[in-house]
Amino acid sequence: MKIIGVAASARKNKSTYFLLEQCLNELKKTAETAGTSLEVEAIDLAALRFHGCLACDTCKKGVQCSQQDDFQELIGKLAAADVGGLIVATPVYMGCMSSQAKAFLDRTVLFRRNGFMFKNKLGGVITVGGSRNGGQELTIQAVHAAMMIHDMIIVGDGDHFGGAGWANHPDGYQGDSTGIATAKNLGRRMAEVAALMHG
Ligand SMILES: Cc1cc2nc3c(=O)[nH]c(=O)nc-3n(C[C@H](O)[C@H](O)[C@H](O)COP(=O)(O)O)c2cc1C
Repeated sequence: MKIIGVAASARKNKSTYFLLEQCLNELKKTAETAGTSLEVEAIDLAALRFHGCLACDTCKKGVQCSQQDDFQELIGKLAAADVGGLIVATPVYMGCMSSQAKAFLDRTVLFRRNGFMFKNKLGGVITVGGSRNGGQELTIQAVHAAMMIHDMIIVGDGDHFGGAGWANHPDGYQGDSTGIATAKNLGRRMAEVAALMHG
C-alpha cells in the first residue's frame, strides 16, 4: 500500500514540506518496525501549476478533467489501486487552508464522481502557521471536511487533530519540536491504522 503526501504551500521545500517529510519518514519507520509494507510518496504542489475546479462537469463522464494543466499528472497517481491514504499538508493562509490546497481538493471531486474512489482511504492533515495559534486547528478541520466528502477514514495524531506547526518558532521551523512531534505522531497513527485495516 502507498500513502501519498501532498504539500500545498506556495513555496517549495519550506516548513510545510519539511513537516510532511517528518510525517512520512515516521510513517515508513513505524511500518518497517511492525514488519508491514508501506510505500510513501511526497508531491510538492509548489512545483505544479493548476487552478481550481471550473464546474464544467466533464468528470461526470469519466475519470477525466477538461483542464489541461499540471493536475493531469496527479490523476493517474491518485487513482492507482495501491494508494491507501492521503496526507494533505497546508500552510495556514488567512486563517484557513492555502488556495493551492483548496484548488487541489476541489479538483479531486472527479474521484468522488466516479464511484467514490477515495472511499475508505486514510486521510491525515498537517498545517503550519506563522503564528503558534494562527488557525491551525480550523485549517485541519476544513481539510477533514473535504476528506469526509470523499468518505475517507480520518486519522488524527493520536492525541488531537493532526500535525500543527509553527513556522516562526524562535528556533526556526526545524526547532519547533512540538509541531514536529504532532507531524510524526500523525505518521505513526497512519501506519498503525493502515496495519489494522490491511495487515
Ligand atoms: C497569504 C498568507 C496568509 C497567511 N495567513 C496566516 C494566518 O492566517 N495565520 C498564520 O498563523 N500564518 C499565516 N501566514 C503565514 C504562513 O502560514 C507561514 O508563513 C507558513 O509557514 C507558510 O508555509 P511555508 O513555510 O511552507 O511557506 C500567512 C502567509 C501568507 C503568505
